[in-house]
Amino acid sequence: MKKKNRRFLLVLTSVVGVASILSQPVVAEQARKTQEMDNRTLLTIPYEDREDLLRVMRKNLTSLGEMIDAMAEDDFKTIEKVADKMSFNEKKGQGLARRGNPGFTAMGVQFHAVDAIAIKKAAEAKNRNGTLRAMSRMVSSCVACHESFKVIEWPNNKIYKRPAPSPLVLPPGVTIRD
Ligand code: HEC
Repeated sequence: MKKKNRRFLLVLTSVVGVASILSQPVVAEQARKTQEMDNRTLLTIPYEDREDLLRVMRKNLTSLGEMIDAMAEDDFKTIEKVADKMSFNEKKGQGLARRGNPGFTAMGVQFHAVDAIAIKKAAEAKNRNGTLRAMSRMVSSCVACHESFKVIEWPNNKIYKRPAPSPLVLPPGVTIRD
C-alpha cells in the first residue's frame, strides 16, 4: 500500500473509532428507554433453557411457513401433518411447565392443545376457510405470548437456576398424548 493511502486509512480508522466511543452513551440511553417501555415478564430460566426455547420458536416459524406454503397448494395432508407435530404431548407439557410461569404455561397449552388441533381438524375436513381461520387464531396466540413474555435481558443476561415447574392446567376436553 502506498504511504499516502496508509495515512488515509489510519485517519479513517481513528475517526470511526472515536465516533463509536462517543456514540456509546447515546446507544446505552436509547437501550434504557426501550427497556422502560417494555413491560413483558422475563422468564427467569437457565441459559440452556433460553436457547432451547428460542430454537423451538424458530421451528414454530418454519412450521407456520410450511403450512402457508401447503395452503397455497391446497395440500391439506401436509397441513394436517405439520399441525399434528405442533400439537400437545407429554414432552411439550413438560417443556411449558419447566419455564415456571403459570401464565406462560397456559398460553402454551392454548397454542399446542387448542390452536394446533383446530388447524388439524379443519385440514382433515379439507375446509379451506376454516383452516385459514384456525391458522390466524394460532398467529394470535404467537402474538399474545410475545407481547407478554421475554427471555432476553438488558444490559446483560443473568444466570438463573431452573424454576420450580408450574402446574399444567388443561382446558376441558384436552388430553395429553405421548
Ligand atoms: C407460550 C408463549 C409463546 C408462544 C405461543 C409463541 N412464542 Fe415465540 N417466543 C416466545 C418467547 C418468550 C420468545 C422470546 C422473546 C424475547 O425474549 O424477546 C419467543 C421468541 C420467538 C422467536 C425469536 C427466536 C430467536 O431465535 O430469537 C420466533 C421466531 C418466534 N418466537 C416465533 C413464534 C411463532 C411463529 C409462534 C406461533 C406459531 C410463536 N413463536 C409462539 C414465546 C412464545
